Amino acid sequence: MEKRDYIDTFTFSKAEMQYMVDLGLKIKDSIKYGYYPQLLKNKNLGMIFEQTSTRTRNSAEAAMAELGGHALYLAPGQIQLGKGGHESLDDTGHVLGRLLDILGARVNRHEEIEGLAKYSQVPVVNFMSDKSHPTQALGDLTTIEENLPKGKELEDIKLVFVGDATQVAMSTMFFCAQMGMKFAQFGPKSNQMPADVLAHAKKIAAANGGSIEISDDEKVLQGADFIYTDVWYGLYDKELQKDQYMKIFYPKYQVSDDLLKKTGNPDVKFMHCLPASRGEEVTASVLDGNHSIVWDQAENRKTAMRAIFVYLLNPNMKHASKALAERYQGELDEMLAKEPYQDNKELGIKY
Ligand code: CP
Repeated sequence: MEKRDYIDTFTFSKAEMQYMVDLGLKIKDSIKYGYYPQLLKNKNLGMIFEQTSTRTRNSAEAAMAELGGHALYLAPGQIQLGKGGHESLDDTGHVLGRLLDILGARVNRHEEIEGLAKYSQVPVVNFMSDKSHPTQALGDLTTIEENLPKGKELEDIKLVFVGDATQVAMSTMFFCAQMGMKFAQFGPKSNQMPADVLAHAKKIAAANGGSIEISDDEKVLQGADFIYTDVWYGLYDKELQKDQYMKIFYPKYQVSDDLLKKTGNPDVKFMHCLPASRGEEVTASVLDGNHSIVWDQAENRKTAMRAIFVYLLNPNMKHASKALAERYQGELDEMLAKEPYQDNKELGIKY
């Protein structure tokens, strides 16, 4: 079976997304009651981070450990990659693919994660690029499932993303489109979804019975079940200074109690991928208030990581037969019993 990479959610079917949500929730439930299924026993994850991370790194590392595996944190300067090193990402992917079972990377450019996937023989997981944040997306979909309004299915849900068209916004739009949900972006014309990305997502939404609306008119907030926002810093090459982004977004696109009221839904939930800047894209009263489910989202980063790793590795898992295990253990025991240092002692070599 060919390896699968988790670079964007849209290369996975609606059924696969639902399967990963259900798998993550099943493992979460099992661990809650004290049973840690060792589904990733002997599996090693290499984690390349070109940028800092709190949630992504810790959720991935803990997910591996809990399920019996191991994670290696490969920060800039620790391997022969990038600044100070002299090995390309492609060669790094090739080598790590020979040594490890799965790779995750947070990269500056989406093309880098695609290159890593191309040159690595093992599954590659996008830990965030300038175009997408798919592990965040699966965690968020899980959080929405856990917080579905009574009597509603995913297909009935309207999610409005407020503010900038960040990579988190794009990934949110894609998973909503895949699951047949109603997605809207409420943002200024200068910072709305790129035309090519929007066209792609609209096609997926149409195929799944979902819808996508992009608007700078606050009417688009009406009927929202979930309001989601992200920081206003801008992305990479068009990174904005505080005075620049405040001018673009503030106060119209700040998620405040007043903005939540404009949904007309007293039970509307507030989402944020974090880290958040209180007083900028969201007020402290909303982030820390009753509508907020941001800590559930943070927790479900690990729920999603467990599911993604298990789903990507399971098809390749080779379960050794009892006879094979006995044979190898026997041969290893025989080798270990040889104690070759005794020969060296006879030659007078000191230890
Ligand atoms: N939301 C998110 O990706 O957080 P980190 O940057 O801390 O990983």
